[in-house]
Amino acid sequence: MLDHEQVAIHTGRRSRLPVIVAVHSTALGPAAGGLRLWHYPDWRAGFTDALRLSAAMTSKFAVAGLPSGGGKAVVALPEGMELDADRRRDILRDVADAIASLSGAYATGPDVGTSPDDMAVIGETTPHVFCRPAHLGGSGDSSPHTAQGTLAALRAVSRRLYGTSSLGGRSLAVIGLGRVGAGLARLLAAEGAVLTVTDIDPDEQKISDGLGAVWRSPDEILAADVDIVVPAALGSVLTRQTAADLRCRAVVGPANNQLATPDVADLLHQRDIIWVPDYVASAGGVIDAVSTELHRVSADEARARVRAIEDTVDALLDTAQRHGQTPAQAASELARRRLSAAVRPTGSP
Ligand code: PHE
Repeated sequence: MLDHEQVAIHTGRRSRLPVIVAVHSTALGPAAGGLRLWHYPDWRAGFTDALRLSAAMTSKFAVAGLPSGGGKAVVALPEGMELDADRRRDILRDVADAIASLSGAYATGPDVGTSPDDMAVIGETTPHVFCRPAHLGGSGDSSPHTAQGTLAALRAVSRRLYGTSSLGGRSLAVIGLGRVGAGLARLLAAEGAVLTVTDIDPDEQKISDGLGAVWRSPDEILAADVDIVVPAALGSVLTRQTAADLRCRAVVGPANNQLATPDVADLLHQRDIIWVPDYVASAGGVIDAVSTELHRVSADEARARVRAIEDTVDALLDTAQRHGQTPAQAASELARRRLSAAVRPTGSP
């Protein structure tokens, strides 16, 4: 059964590429979620990704307690296609047309493969876009806020496991040194954490050296002997196999869709490994963007809302422990409760 309110697929008029916009739910408010510009084996794979990613955005907002719904846009690039500036602009204008045709049901933002400058191009066509550069009136790059939010989630987990929210002296393995992963690695290094890192791009070893981190290959790092593994790259890193290989006590990171299949959350729980759902740990970026651009709160208030992820994770871990649940179950129940409270007409039980 299709769980989504609407999914639009267009062949871009200019780019001739598949543009997919998935609106999962507007029960809590107009949908928001990033634009992913990435390579896929075919458009169907991009379509499937858009469905999963947009559903995760609904949960992300519900658990964060924000009145927004879940959506996502994906442009499925053929494997190996390189984008020059003109082609990129064509794609962004095609996406902007698709967003404009939804009349506000969905607003986009940056995601894997897109940046605030890309949001500026989309903003030439439609106002339904977050994170344009500050000089154009947007809140700019969301990745530092995503990194701060993940740090907040890590603090809650550290307190639970080690009795302190400080990450100084803790060993962490950061998988992926993109904008969020590298930013988070810097925050962790500044706090005195001991880092092991990797990226699919061997050039990122420069960042690793700068942080005094140990570099591992992407296929070795999941089994690294560290306290906490931090997925900060593309999804589906947690499979039945990798879950069995982990040697850490917790997995907490900003990557979206970390689980290859939902049952991996149960496997982690059986192995006594805390997994904080990705849509909880990665919410800092959207919390900041929506709070500053839609709710017009001050920078301090936005920061406080991002930092509150620590309390959210604390509460989820408590609830999970009390009810003998996984944190994933506790989070999805919380999301479900908030969503059904929103759609139920007032006065009904
Ligand atoms: N990439 C962000 C996420 O997955 C999406 C986003 C960021 C959307 C900022 C709007 C504003 O949460």
